[in-house]
Formats: sequence, structure tokens, C-alpha cells
Amino acid sequence: MPMPLKNDRFLRALRREPVDTTPVWVMRQAGRYLPEYRATRAKAGSFMALAQNPELACEVTLQPLDRYELDAAILFSDILTIPDAMGLGLSFAHGEGPQFARPVRTRAEVERLGVPDMESELRYVMDAVRVIRRELAGRVPLIGFSGSPWTLACYMVEGEGSRDFATVKAMCWSDPAMAHMLLETLARSVAAYLSAQAAAGAQALMIFDTWGGLLGPAAFREFSLRYLSQVVDVLKSDIHARDLPLILFSKGANGHLAEMAATGCAALGVDWTIDLSDARKAVDGKVALQGNLDPAVLRASPEVIRREVRRVLDSYGNHPGHVFNLGHGVTPEVDPEHVKVLVDEVHAYSRILRAA
Ligand code: CP3
Repeated sequence: MPMPLKNDRFLRALRREPVDTTPVWVMRQAGRYLPEYRATRAKAGSFMALAQNPELACEVTLQPLDRYELDAAILFSDILTIPDAMGLGLSFAHGEGPQFARPVRTRAEVERLGVPDMESELRYVMDAVRVIRRELAGRVPLIGFSGSPWTLACYMVEGEGSRDFATVKAMCWSDPAMAHMLLETLARSVAAYLSAQAAAGAQALMIFDTWGGLLGPAAFREFSLRYLSQVVDVLKSDIHARDLPLILFSKGANGHLAEMAATGCAALGVDWTIDLSDARKAVDGKVALQGNLDPAVLRASPEVIRREVRRVLDSYGNHPGHVFNLGHGVTPEVDPEHVKVLVDEVHAYSRILRAA
């Protein structure tokens, strides 16, 4: 029998139920800004060796929880595990972004792609989920995650990170049928991946659509939103995932919040380019919101961090359904003490806000 949760604020907020204080976690909370993370990664040898070792992946997942009063843990892994399992050959050059040895460019290469087997090719991810759940012992809930079909396609076609992902966008215009074939395979893979994480013990699920905002409105609907929606539909009738809250995060897509909320997800991640009060109006209270402090604020002084945390909390107001987070991941040069300032201020100030 799994242990009952000692802290369920995060899950309650996602259900828009009342909580004593606003739950908080931080995207990329296990990462290079922590010296203990860098030490474990050095022990593993590389980022991929770390992600593929369930005990070490568990160790780094728990590191930020030992430092800060976080209300959720997130599986330590990466969104690019799916394309790696499809045979694209993922590596991370030291200090640089991801790279695929075999990017997908031709119709034949798209046709050859299959949905990876979750309990063999991606077993290391499911094993990490199982180990982390055991070691968490009910401290806080565990978030499983995937990249969105569109964002995975961006990396698979480009072969590496990019500012504008012009190669995949060119494919959308020059051969839309091929782009859709790729996105269909990815949507089935993402749904199967999240279902398998739910079966292994994840208690909430999040989809990162980091590059949704690169698309204009019509293209966003056709190449990103359509497939997010497909994944939500599959998970809603999936025996393992149907009772888990699902968070969709499309960065730079604040013009689409209402449409995204209409997919049936539980919550939306929000970047820092919109006030949460406006985001709440856009979704009409139908979903919870997660966000949205600008990660660059963590480079400022503790006084400024506290002030900006309060600004975000005030903007959401005294309503149910807020999970505090950054609007994107914490960056490597951030002082770990500043993350503590953020987490503690969220809890302290949101208690005051509730009492007011
Ligand atoms: O949030 C967490 O603590 C969980 C772990 C997590 C990682 N990547 C670990 C990681 C999560 C949720 C991700 C998601 C991810 N990965 C996204 C979506 C979220 C976002 O940031 O937009 C994307 C686009 C990727 C792809 C990726 N992985 C890139 C572009 C890079 C290199 C850039 C960078 O930050 O170094 C990675 C590598 C990566 N994934 C690192 C970590 C901690 C750093 C690698 C290292 O330790 O050397």
C-alpha cells in the first residue's frame, strides 16, 4: 500500500480546493544551480548517465526537497528521452544543449518511427518513478512529465536546440502531411509515456510545450494544440492516468489560454509575460494556474525577490487554484539561498493573504 500523503496542498490546489498556504515548486528545481546536483552528475559521468540511473535520478530529485519546503517533487529526467528511445541518438555536449546523431528530415525517416515500448526502452524512467515514490514515502506528491508532440518535433527535426526552429517550421509549410505524420506518432508516444509514468506511481502529470509560442495562432492550433488535445483525450480515458491532474504549459502562448483550458486539463502553466489576474479571467476559473515569476528575478536581491513573489500572489488574489512556480526553469547561475527566499515568502505571504 502506498503511504498516504503528508502534504497534499499541491494536489488540492490543482483541484481548486482550499489550502492553508499556496503550494510551490520550481521548474528545474533539481539542476545545476545546486552544488550537490553537480556532484551527483559528476559521479554519474554525464547528464544521460544520471537520468538513466534510477537510484541517482532519485537522489537528485530529492536534493531540492531537503533544502526547501517544496510542495511537490518532479521526476528527474528529460523531455528528450522519447526521441532517444526512438533511435535518434541523444547526447549533451558538456555545457551545451542537446544534440541528436540522427535527426528526422525525410518522409522515410518519419515513417520508420514507432512508439517506444515503455517498460523496455524507457524502463529506466519508470524505474526512477518507482524508486522516487518509495523514497518520498508520502512527503509530497511526485510529478511525472513529458514534452509536447510539437516541442519534441522541434528538437527531432532540428537535431539540436535553436532560437527559431526554422527547419521544423519549414516542414510544416512545405509538407504538412509529413509534419502531421510525425506529430501523430509523437502524440501516441507522449500519451503512452505519461500513462506508464502514472502506472509506475506519478501523482500528477505535466506536458512542457516549450516552443508552442514560436507558432502563429492558426499554426499553433494546427501543429501544437491539436496534439495536446489528443493526448488529454487519451489520458482522460486511460485507466492509470484518468484520475491524475494534468498540467499543460505552452510557453509564449498566452493568447491561447482559453482554448487550452477547454481541452479538459486540470491546470495551465503560465509564463511571466501575463498578469495572473488576466490569465484567470481568460480561463474563467475553469482550471488551476501554475506560475509565473520571471526566473530572472532570482538573480536580484532577497528584498526584490520577496516583493516580486508578493506581486505574483496578489495578482492571483485570494482564490483557490494557484500553484506558485517560475514562468520557466531556474537557471544555473542562481544562488541556492535565493530559491529558499522565494519558497519561504510564498508560504508566509500567502498565509497573510488568506487571513486578510
Ligand atoms: O524540473 C526538474 O527539476 C526536472 C527535470 C527536467 C530536466 N529537463 C532536467 C535537465 C525537466 C522537467 C526537463 C524538461 C526539459 N528538457 C524541457 C522543457 C522545459 C523547459 O525548460 O523548457 C526542455 C526543452 C528540455 C530539453 C533540454 N534538456 C535542454 C534544452 C537542455 C539543455 C539546456 C540546459 O538547461 O542545460 C537539457 C538538459 C537538462 N535537462 C539539464 C537538466 C537538469 C541540464 C543538463 C546538465 O545537467 O548538464
